[in-house]
Amino acid sequence: MNNDMEPKPIQWKNGEVIILDQRRLPSEEVYISTKRYQEVVMAIKDMAIRGAPAIGIAAAFGIAIGAKTIVEDMGIKDKDHFRMELEMIFREFASSRPTAVNLFWAIDRMKDIVQKNTHMDVEELSELLVEEAMKIYEEDMLSCKRIGHFGKELIGDGFRILTHCNAGGLATAGYGTALGVIRAAFEEGKKIFVFVDETRPFLQGSRLTAWELKRASIPFCVITDNMAGYFMKKGEIDCIIVGADRITSYGDVANKIGTYTIAVLAKAHRIPFYVAAPISTVDFSKKNPEEIPIEERDPSEVTHFMGIQITPYGSRARNPAFDVTPRWLISAIITDKGIAKRPYISSLKRLREKNL
Ligand code: MRU
Repeated sequence: MNNDMEPKPIQWKNGEVIILDQRRLPSEEVYISTKRYQEVVMAIKDMAIRGAPAIGIAAAFGIAIGAKTIVEDMGIKDKDHFRMELEMIFREFASSRPTAVNLFWAIDRMKDIVQKNTHMDVEELSELLVEEAMKIYEEDMLSCKRIGHFGKELIGDGFRILTHCNAGGLATAGYGTALGVIRAAFEEGKKIFVFVDETRPFLQGSRLTAWELKRASIPFCVITDNMAGYFMKKGEIDCIIVGADRITSYGDVANKIGTYTIAVLAKAHRIPFYVAAPISTVDFSKKNPEEIPIEERDPSEVTHFMGIQITPYGSRARNPAFDVTPRWLISAIITDKGIAKRPYISSLKRLREKNL
């Protein structure tokens, strides 16, 4: 895929954040330009931008916009006042989506800039926040390329790979994590075929992953989520690769709802199940999977499809957006610093400390 074909889910242009509205894909490629941090918070909540690394990047850019607004529009020059206003913005972003740890990791990086540069005036500080957000963006692109580089070794020529949700360029600064591995193997000349899980209820698979694979000319077919076991049993799937929203220090993985079901099926059929994510997705402060907050979204995403009610009027519905796959179901975790194998508690720690 040439660079012009690379989807750009988020960009920073002249003090504005430009977001590719993923709710409207694949039928329309519409970009929203956001000048206020509140618009970026809404874009994350409503899933105009989604995917763990992309959410973190959006929050960083949103905070940078917020800092500029405090200085330029509100005219605040006093450092303590500036910090107080910024604290409120940090809190708003932190409450936008709870599961993806990359969001909190990016907020912490922005907080660190403020804490470490007490000598700076507010103008300098707000410039530095823009630079930090840009760094987070650029580092993510690089880390996706690294994940691809390490992960492609696990993909054999002729492999038929199942993926769930969208862990592609749209969910990151570009290139993708799980899809980055698939792309790297394909770009190396391996013959690849991808089974794309539709991913109910938001359809990140059939709308977004299929859109990306088509642009990259990688052969694929879309299946509904409940077909995965059928194809595994028929011997048509060689491995599974998914992304992650948060990984505990022991290697349990929170990812899009339905990931756990696929991992159980993969175990039953002795098919390797891989997770691809940057090391920043590992939350070393969490040992126990129960500590991961699972977002429960509006039931209307289940009861309605494109605004049309598909359940009897008044039906109740549940809509947990993520589940946690226990580590014993995971064959390897592909990170931007190398491949972690069991026991993950030591291999993930080793990778975190590794300098590249
Ligand atoms: O609800 P979403 O679309 O934000 O969920 C996305 C996922 O679950 C992805 O698999 C995960 O964030 C990894 S993206 C590289």
